[in-house]
Amino acid sequence: MPTPHLASLRDAIPQLRLLTEPADLEHYGRDWTRRWVPAPLAIALPDSVEEVQAIVRWANAAGVALVPSGGRTGLSGGAVAANGELVVSLARMNRMLGFDAVDRTLTVQAGMPLQRVQELAQEHGLHYPVDFAARGSASIGGSIATNAGGIRVVRYGNTREWVAGVTFVSGSGELMALGRALVKNSSGYDLRHLAVASEGTLGIIVEATLRLTDPPPASNVMLLALPSFAALMQVFATFRTRLQLQAFEFLTDVALQHVLAHGAQAPFAETHPYYVVTEFASDEASEAEALTAFEQCMEQGLVSDGVISASDAQAAQLWRLREGITESLARYVPYKNDVAVRISAMPAFLAETQALLGREYPHFEVVWFGHIGDGNLHINILKPDAMAQDAFVADCERVTKLLAQVLQAHGGSISAEHGIGLVKKPYLDCTRSAAEISTMRGIKAVLDPGGIMNPGKVFD
Ligand code: MLT
Ligand code: ZN
Repeated sequence: MPTPHLASLRDAIPQLRLLTEPADLEHYGRDWTRRWVPAPLAIALPDSVEEVQAIVRWANAAGVALVPSGGRTGLSGGAVAANGELVVSLARMNRMLGFDAVDRTLTVQAGMPLQRVQELAQEHGLHYPVDFAARGSASIGGSIATNAGGIRVVRYGNTREWVAGVTFVSGSGELMALGRALVKNSSGYDLRHLAVASEGTLGIIVEATLRLTDPPPASNVMLLALPSFAALMQVFATFRTRLQLQAFEFLTDVALQHVLAHGAQAPFAETHPYYVVTEFASDEASEAEALTAFEQCMEQGLVSDGVISASDAQAAQLWRLREGITESLARYVPYKNDVAVRISAMPAFLAETQALLGREYPHFEVVWFGHIGDGNLHINILKPDAMAQDAFVADCERVTKLLAQVLQAHGGSISAEHGIGLVKKPYLDCTRSAAEISTMRGIKAVLDPGGIMNPGKVFD
């Protein structure tokens, strides 16, 4: 039997594609967190900006909450619909709208997967540099809504840097072209940046104009083995001084073992406690600098082994060791911390965090990896098979409170790139001030006066 809400939605927008089958509700009602039981009202698949606006107007009138949905690869519960919300999936709005060679911009609908954006840029002889392992599924709208980072931030910055314009349907149903792809624009507040990292709480991103850049140089990937955690930031400093790094990623041997168990090939005959995957241009000068940096690190005892890619296939193999981590851990439904501090604060923060987690998690497997060159660390705590999910999460939340205090002391952030969503909502006030949070609430009240946009995410 259709609910009264569904009947009124069908009346209001008869042509709107709606899914109500249990399998669809389950599929579209959750993200990669897998912690909440999906329970959406239905899934709306609009095909135009007008349909999105009509949905928002209907939701305000009916008092039904909306959860915008991209590729559902989020890791913070930002796209979870567990309370009878209408999921608004942008999956059908995935078309290219324009390319401008003079402006060097690509305009696309928000449901286009990141990888397709990258391919289109390449087809036009240019490059969209935001990149991360979920590229095939994550949508560009979702990546904007979380200000996604990924593996190239050390070279190119976060998604925010590449958003030239956003077409946005606010929670009150207003259509706004924010940013307009102008290079210069000093005409008041830059509202485009409110859409970035808004996690669907202010409105729905329907289109984006993205800046493109020159294609990167041909590159080499190097895997370094490190004997100690303390060496990490020194190795980074040595390599960064000599090279323009395209990536500088870190993983522990615990992380590597999970990826190997998933079918990847062991890079060294021996195991080492820590590893770095770094990438830089493959021209002669860069290769010579990389070799010098490597030798310098070896002499100082900061690096104990290394391998450099000799082909694209080998480069991909080395990248798999880092990019395969999330997938290889998925079966444990890990509790994820995604924290950031300034790069200069990293050594002290790492030492304190290592001591804290060693003390608080003697009974759990803890997997460390991340974008160390950006000051961004991922800490995944694996649920023991025999332990109940609730008890596991409760223990991880207890420790996250302590971690948030360490972050506060170092001026860091409880979310570097995954967003706050539901997972980190309890800790937002550790790394954002009361004045900041109340300003965010004020902004939400203006753009989403009916409180229909992704309620309960980021803050209550
Ligand atoms: C990554 O860096 O691999 C992603 O942020 C995903 C994750 O943290 O699991
Ligand atoms: Zn990451």
